[in-house]
Amino acid sequence: MQDSTTTTGNVPVTIGGNGSIRYNFAEFGEGAEIFDWCVVLKPELIHIGPHTRVDSMVKLEGGHGAGLFIGAYVHICSFAHINTGGGTVYIGNYAGIASGAKILGGTNLPDAPSMSAAAPPEMQHVARMGTGIGAYAFIGANAVVMPGITIGEGAVIGAGSVVTKNIAPWTIAVGNPARQIGERSHDF
Ligand SMILES: CC(C)(COP(=O)(O)OP(=O)(O)OC[C@H]1O[C@@H](n2cnc3c(N)ncnc32)[C@H](O)[C@@H]1OP(=O)(O)O)[C@@H](O)C(=O)NCCC(=O)NCCS
Repeated sequence: MQDSTTTTGNVPVTIGGNGSIRYNFAEFGEGAEIFDWCVVLKPELIHIGPHTRVDSMVKLEGGHGAGLFIGAYVHICSFAHINTGGGTVYIGNYAGIASGAKILGGTNLPDAPSMSAAAPPEMQHVARMGTGIGAYAFIGANAVVMPGITIGEGAVIGAGSVVTKNIAPWTIAVGNPARQIGERSHDF
């Protein structure tokens, strides 16, 4: 991160070598970092906890719901997309979101004429959900977490998985659709 300012409340953060991009986050914790170049939509609905790191080429959307809540010491790798959509996404403390993973908080449903977000609203049916990634969980590279899903605390999702059902805490799940293949010790 370059040239950032950290306070509480309505937090201006500038990134870019010359401070050319300014985001007004809802919250940006002490020691948090966001690298050039990220795409950040609706930053006023995005809460970023202390010591969280957002790598370059990540897309974060505050969305149209309650917002995007990212805890402390979270790492979001390059090319991940936190697609809050019309919903709300929570990411717990110490969670890891690997390269290219997609976390979805809302989606167009097929029971309306158009699934294009650019179509007139009366032609769309948008489901606005709450999606949660538990503390200490890990979402593997290019995995997709569908809207409304809860990934339990400490759960691990394998690379390339598509998660369509809630995942129990401290388990390991892989595949499309993701199925539990094991448990993760948390006797640290
Ligand atoms: C899920 C994961 C943690 C499992 O690791 P593990 O517990 O050591 O599991 P194993 O490698 O022993 O694999 C167990 C079984 O699951 C399968 N499997 C493992 N990962 C898989 C995946 N992502 N998708 C589908 N199947 C997978 C293996 O083929 C193996 O199947 P088998 O028993 O039929 O041979 C790991 O494979 C993984 O996907 N890690 C994420 C890597 C990543 O994205 N890193 C971030 C880079 S930015």
